[in-house]
Amino acid sequence: MKLLDKEFVPFISKEKIQQRIKELGQQITNDYKGKDLTIIGVLNGSFIFVSDLAKAIDINCDIEFTKYSSYVNTQSTGKIVRHLDLPSNLKGQHILIVEDIIDTGQTMQKILKDLKQQEPASVKIVSLLFKPETLLEPIDISYIGFEIDPKFVVGYGLDYNGKGRNIDEILVLKD
Ligand code: IMP
Ligand code: MG
Repeated sequence: MKLLDKEFVPFISKEKIQQRIKELGQQITNDYKGKDLTIIGVLNGSFIFVSDLAKAIDINCDIEFTKYSSYVNTQSTGKIVRHLDLPSNLKGQHILIVEDIIDTGQTMQKILKDLKQQEPASVKIVSLLFKPETLLEPIDISYIGFEIDPKFVVGYGLDYNGKGRNIDEILVLKD
């Protein structure tokens, strides 16, 4: 399938994604039983994942969003821009940050730094995709959907210069 100037091929099917989300939802439900949970989705990429994951989590939770970006074309710029502030009432809350993908980890490091200033009770991370080979500094990711090779992917919320977010499966750049 073609998006702008690049060709993408199937990588993770919608069935596989949905199955994995069910498992993650059950795990999160067990881990947070009896606690108040605040989910914070990182826009734009996580909007579809947040929607499906939240439905798979069977506990009361708040759902909030923040927006950070670092990518231009198919590369991280290393310069993290915050476009939408975190909610400002997170003191004492149990926070689960929901990301579409962790690549260099710089976006997540910045989010964690910003979050910790508010002294939440706990902070955990769930990321649908994780590219371990490109991570720059260690990050504790509590829940990982799929570990993948350092290739550029789109679909299921992830974009190539804004395109491809509404594809219901994950595609990878054709080499
Ligand atoms: P990091 O700061 O390098 O970890 O990059 C994280 C952000 O870059 C993610 O939230 C995505 O928005 C974007 N990103 C990283 N890898 C990909 C990819 O393969 N496809 C699309 N976006 C990506
Ligand atoms: Mg993102």
